[in-house]
Amino acid sequence: MRSFVLPMLALVVLLASIPAQAATRVAATPPMGWNSWNHFAGRVTDADVRAAADAMVSSGMRDAGYIYVNIDDTWQGKRDAQGRIHPNARFPDMKALADYVHARGLKLGIYSSPGPTTCAGYTGSYGHEVQDAKTYASWGVDYIKYDLCGYRDIMSKEAPHDRMKQMRMMRDAYEKMHEALDSTHRSIVYSLCQYGWDAVWEWGAKAGGNAWRTTGDIRASWDSIYSIVSAQVGLEHYAGPGHWNDPDMLEVGNGNLDLAEDRAHFSWWAMLAAPLIAGNDLSKMTPAVRDILTNRAVIAVDQVPLGKQGTRAYVDGQMEVWTRQLAGGALAVAVFNVGSDRDVRPFHIDLARLGLHGAQHGTDLWSGKAVTIDDATPIGLASHDVLMLRIARPH
Ligand code: GLA
Repeated sequence: MRSFVLPMLALVVLLASIPAQAATRVAATPPMGWNSWNHFAGRVTDADVRAAADAMVSSGMRDAGYIYVNIDDTWQGKRDAQGRIHPNARFPDMKALADYVHARGLKLGIYSSPGPTTCAGYTGSYGHEVQDAKTYASWGVDYIKYDLCGYRDIMSKEAPHDRMKQMRMMRDAYEKMHEALDSTHRSIVYSLCQYGWDAVWEWGAKAGGNAWRTTGDIRASWDSIYSIVSAQVGLEHYAGPGHWNDPDMLEVGNGNLDLAEDRAHFSWWAMLAAPLIAGNDLSKMTPAVRDILTNRAVIAVDQVPLGKQGTRAYVDGQMEVWTRQLAGGALAVAVFNVGSDRDVRPFHIDLARLGLHGAQHGTDLWSGKAVTIDDATPIGLASHDVLMLRIARPH
């Protein structure tokens, strides 16, 4: 009897684990890569994407975990008589580009819209979802960002004044592309981009999304980053392996962000279990920016397989303390000076507010140094800078 029960039990356990494995087949940890939009916007070319792929290898980014090379909007040309989408003249051969990217141990991402047109007015997938998914798969595409934009007109035309119906249409449109991608039998990361409408975190995973944008577009400014970050508080329960909240692509190295702001931005995205999709010109990145994007200790916080998103623990004036649970009982603690006053503020973490008592031993993830902190340890942080710690055995 016993010899029969044990194999049966093993079979039941195996069968029960199959759907979970399918859901986390891709994006078991937040996707990492690069996307063309934040720097190149509508000017991106095949040569830019190849240069980005090369730079991901030579900068050490690929080896630090950045795998996806994503072409955003404006690659599309026209459909032919059979309805098949072709890239425009700036992308002469998508399959050759995918081969180039794959040959470097990287993966290729692409962009489309459920509408007839994209945000930048290029051809979208409306009415061609299955055909487009097949075309992408035939090129060797591994990631798709699906951006609502042009579909909004269809929603308001078909259901004027009926917001409920419009929202249903939106969900259906996202599910439709999910099914189309599924039918290709290729592992493709599905990234929903509809700016957080209709509380997408509540249904994005069901619609097949591996990540969903939670807000409008990021800009390379402190105010934009900080307002996005503030909008993530409360969403932490919706993220997990295979399905992530996406506070948008990184602006590290872009605009006028200084290095403290770049560090704070990157630390926040790691605390938030966010996709780490760089958006700067990798072929011209400074060593200081490269060091931020490739900080393995911070990346490890983002990528912890447990996949529990962190959150804001408490605010004290212009100081914010964020925490994130890591594997094996460890804890990430990040202190941000969000004020604009240029003076360095002495600050003390109130450990009791984190459920901790007495001296805590950890690592400063930006200096790499071992640190011990207690309630009396002064923390001097310049405006917009961050202190990020990993406490191995919090108590
Ligand atoms: C929207 C998206 C951006 C980008 C542009 C492209 O604004 O949110 O991330 O993809 O469209 O047109």
